[in-house]
Amino acid sequence: MSVVCTSLARNAMALRNTGAMVMVRYAQTAAAPASEPRIKKFQIYRWDPDTMGDKPRMQTYEIDLNNCGPMVLDALIKIKNEMDPTLTFRRSCREGICGSCAMNINGGNTLACLNKIDSNTSKPIKIYPLPHMYVVKDLVPDMSNFYAQYKSIEPFLKKKDESQEGKEQYHQTVEDRQKLDGLYECILCACCSTSCPSYWWNGDKYLGPAVLMQAYRWMIDSRDEFTEERLSKLQDPFSLYRCHTIMNCTKTCPKGLNPGKAIAEIKKMMATYKEKVINPVNIVENHQT
Ligand code: SF4
Ligand code: SF4
Ligand code: FES
Repeated sequence: MSVVCTSLARNAMALRNTGAMVMVRYAQTAAAPASEPRIKKFQIYRWDPDTMGDKPRMQTYEIDLNNCGPMVLDALIKIKNEMDPTLTFRRSCREGICGSCAMNINGGNTLACLNKIDSNTSKPIKIYPLPHMYVVKDLVPDMSNFYAQYKSIEPFLKKKDESQEGKEQYHQTVEDRQKLDGLYECILCACCSTSCPSYWWNGDKYLGPAVLMQAYRWMIDSRDEFTEERLSKLQDPFSLYRCHTIMNCTKTCPKGLNPGKAIAEIKKMMATYKEKVINPVNIVENHQT
């Protein structure tokens, strides 16, 4: 009986001590000075096609960074949820996987969910939709042309003999699989294409770095049997050759990929491929002279 009593007394003492510690901690928290507000300005492109006569303009929002997540997307979501529900932008995964939050932040194309808010409160953050794209509303660009171009390169495995399709896996060596590294990770955010001056001026005919990198990804897939046909589709002055190796695309890619290099590799393949097509013509010409 005395053992039980002693144990109960010990537990009661422990509880009292814990309570005291909680009180002390609470007192410490309560005594901590409230942090100074860190007000950051966000200047955001606004345009609403549904409002008659509405013209594009910049709208400024002020956010206390103490009450906001660290990324630009956190700020946009905060503005939409707490200040202005009409602000329109795309987002989904909030971790750089879906590509939907691509926009122009402080002059560079990037993903809002991967872009950290600059804590310097003296400088505003300026946010525009991806450049040189038609705008659907606010920060939402029209991606129709970009997706149509992606569809045009047939971004899937193609076999000459389709009778075996779905029957068994198409194997690949480890080395052949490694050739796709740095290509398959593209999330089609279009940051690269919309940073490319050639794409700005010829976006209707030039495929742009994102789509060309995916074309290359399928050209070099050891399981694909349509490499020559894929190359032949680019045989015109615009689809591929509008790239002038300015490399804005590679500089801006938020996933650290190198579409400029992929385009250079396609150009090399085109040179060999051209020989195959042009040689018979040369032979005929040589024969005539
Ligand atoms: S290459 Fe990079 S920037 Fe271009 S679409 Fe893919 S992930 Fe986006
Ligand atoms: S390297 Fe080619 S695709 Fe990339 S930005 Fe320059 S012109 Fe555009
Ligand atoms: S929300 Fe998906 S990439 Fe930013």
